Amino acid sequence: MAEALRVGIAGLGTVGASVARVLRDKAAELTRQCGRDIIVSAISARDRKRDRGIDLSSANWFDDPVKMAQTAEIDVFVELVGGDEGPARASVKAALEAGRHVVTANKALLAKHGVALAEIAEKKGVLLNYEAAVAGGIPVIKTMREAMAGNSVTRVFGILNGTCNYILTRMEAEGVSFDVVLKDAQRLGYAEADPTFDIEGHDTAHKLSILTSLAFGTKIAANDIYMEGISNITQADIRAAGDLGYRIKLLGVAQRTESGIEQRVHPTMVPTASVIAQVHGVTNAVAIETDILGELLLSGPGAGGNATASAVIGDIADIAKSRPGFQHGPVFGRPAKELRPYKKAQMRSHAGGYFIRLTVHDRIGVFAAIAKRMADNDISLESIVQHAVSGEAAAQKTVILVTHETTEAAVRKAVDGITKDGHLTDKPQVIRIERAG
Ligand SMILES: NC(=O)c1ccc[n+]([C@@H]2O[C@H](COP(=O)([O-])OP(=O)(O)OC[C@H]3O[C@@H](n4cnc5c(N)ncnc54)[C@H](OP(=O)(O)O)[C@@H]3O)[C@@H](O)[C@H]2O)c1
Repeated sequence: MAEALRVGIAGLGTVGASVARVLRDKAAELTRQCGRDIIVSAISARDRKRDRGIDLSSANWFDDPVKMAQTAEIDVFVELVGGDEGPARASVKAALEAGRHVVTANKALLAKHGVALAEIAEKKGVLLNYEAAVAGGIPVIKTMREAMAGNSVTRVFGILNGTCNYILTRMEAEGVSFDVVLKDAQRLGYAEADPTFDIEGHDTAHKLSILTSLAFGTKIAANDIYMEGISNITQADIRAAGDLGYRIKLLGVAQRTESGIEQRVHPTMVPTASVIAQVHGVTNAVAIETDILGELLLSGPGAGGNATASAVIGDIADIAKSRPGFQHGPVFGRPAKELRPYKKAQMRSHAGGYFIRLTVHDRIGVFAAIAKRMADNDISLESIVQHAVSGEAAAQKTVILVTHETTEAAVRKAVDGITKDGHLTDKPQVIRIERAG
């Protein structure tokens, strides 16, 4: 049998401790599958004394993950610390430069430094595997990197943040407000004490930026992503969406258009009958559309110790199965030096259907003025519904418009015009509608 693969794990939190546990519990099975043992020979975390719920006394402890990354005691450096700078970046870079394979679950790091790290990995002839960084346990990186050669991707989109999907699912099922569900999600551990990163779309954007690079062969451009979170989604939106045959999801969407590549993260209305609309709670899903394959949808657990560990261990097992001298495939599906500059499509040129909810003064002429603003901007309407707002029927009304395909620029201009006309009693709500099978 080949020599054992020696693994060093930096970070022994939710994911790191699960990885160590599964490597121990499934050791015999992994040896059979990989043709060699996989052993945890080194570990690093902040607090040496903390109980990790697993005996790791046979592994050498390192206070400094960078030192661990450089030691000759390991063949693979597993980074599960997190963060886009600091010890995570320094240790991953050090490991690659020292010729160690790296496995990471760190989307923030890859979104910011992925291309530079890929260049080092490819120069050194080692693997940089990151299946767990996008959609947790769902094998979407492998699918895009290895199983879709020759396909040209036209669009990739998905539910990439379990916290947001959990909140939206409960808002719809229970008819309660965003704030109420968020508080409960924090109590149950589904949302962080500071939830901004999740609910305002940053986490989805990091993951989307990696998928975009794999889909279109472009350099990662996380800072160029248009981003809107879910904190302004109300029960009125969810109910109106249901009445119109839609469900609201926070989607990350990357799409090739005539003017460049669109990357956007925002609340989106998808048809209730579509497959992605059936993805509830903390579950994630990724849809990939290509010229040869058509549409593929992968769905499954997007976070949590075990699900994420499953992806990390899959990456470690791939390294265990590889043999010295074997030429490894490139990190982002094509050599890092061949990744093209990212050509950004302006959000103003985004084309699609729109849901617009307006709360207006209940007076003569308002309805006609709204219709005129739409017509002036060449927006054709699929439907326009007006009804009284319960409890305040005498003073104001809600007008809900659904447009046929139009542009973001036209919608913004029309809504700005309506706002200037002075008919609104509340902020207008605009939600994009996404085609989904
Ligand atoms: N949790 C998930 O469901 C999930 C899913 C997908 C991807 N990820 C990614 O996986 C990574 C880890 O996430 P997690 O949830 O496991 O985080 P976590 O529970 O906060 O664990 C972080 C670990 O890093 C250690 N650490 C922090 N600073 C360190 C330093 N300077 N030197 C050495 N160790 C240090 C901590 O040590 P102490 O324990 O001693 O404090 C802790 O063990 C992140 O990149 C995250 O984005 C997580």
